[in-house]
Amino acid sequence: MTDAVTIYEVGPRDGLQNEPAPVPVAARLGLIEALAEAGLREVEVGSFVSPKWVPQMAGSDAVLAAAREIPGIRPWVLVPNMKGWEAFEAAGAGAGVAVFVSASEGFSRANLNCSVDESLDRLRPVAEAARAAGVPLRGYVSCLVACPYDGPVAPEAVARVARGLAALGIDRLSLGDTIGAGEPETVRPAVRAALECGDWAEVAGHFHDTGGRALANVEACLDLGLRAFDAAAGGLGGCPYAPGAPGNLATEALVARLHALGMRTGVDEARLARAAAMARGLRGGDR
Ligand code: HMG
Ligand code: MG
Repeated sequence: MTDAVTIYEVGPRDGLQNEPAPVPVAARLGLIEALAEAGLREVEVGSFVSPKWVPQMAGSDAVLAAAREIPGIRPWVLVPNMKGWEAFEAAGAGAGVAVFVSASEGFSRANLNCSVDESLDRLRPVAEAARAAGVPLRGYVSCLVACPYDGPVAPEAVARVARGLAALGIDRLSLGDTIGAGEPETVRPAVRAALECGDWAEVAGHFHDTGGRALANVEACLDLGLRAFDAAAGGLGGCPYAPGAPGNLATEALVARLHALGMRTGVDEARLARAAAMARGLRGGDR
């Protein structure tokens, strides 16, 4: 099995979407440039979601337009529906598109204002449009092991939405422990359930570190063969509709652990430390 690991840097999106006040576009771009200089290649730069729901991601069109010009990175953006897809196209496209579905009904309602099945239905035209345009697609499964509203989530619920994403032709998955409640004992069966129900090109682990077990969960996923992980420089992060989801796994902690395990990431740790300091400097409020 390869020792190369792909890191999806999600700080400019999953990190900054949770800040109490929107971070200006120029500062978001400064962080993205620093991340690119550190060697991060896959960078989630924004969201084409409703600015009424997540005002922090307003201006993602301007962020994307500038991020597209930064050498060496592939930008990614979140798209929840056709309205978001149209905004993405109007912004000039030129990025990967991540769609997101919850394994639990409570979080789906809170985050997308619809049921799990309705959210999959909404994504069908998005997936078709992306395929027609040759745009790379990634599908998030949120609430991998627990939901902030419904409690524990069964592996079968994860499998159900993973099958739904596979049926849309999506072959890159990101499995999200949205509130950082997972431990290797609960993460393993959930990941196995997802692995078994599709012919995936890539499955990534997306861990929030609320319970301090994110790195242990990464190692459990490495044992299961995963070679892609999401993380946010400086440990920024959370989701406005997931109370108790403060920080994503910090990219610098992930990279240090992967290098210690003899894995290759292509990331320069000293430069990443500078980007992480910049990310922490963007953090507002008293968290
Ligand atoms: P809704 O209110 O049900 O939408 O929200 P609607 O279709 O009824 O439309 C209402 C209004 O919103 C209309 O405008 C639409 O045009 C507009 P009005 O006529 O009132 O002026 N609208 C939009 N505007 C801009 N962009 C759009 C869009 N769609 C509709 N795309 C909706 C449904 C999906 C829009 C809303 O619930 C939403 O934006 N949700 C996104 C929430 C979000 O971004 N959460 C964070 C990302 S998920 C996450 O963090 C988890 C993850 O990290 C993985 C993990 O950790 O597990 C990915
Ligand atoms: Mg997240």
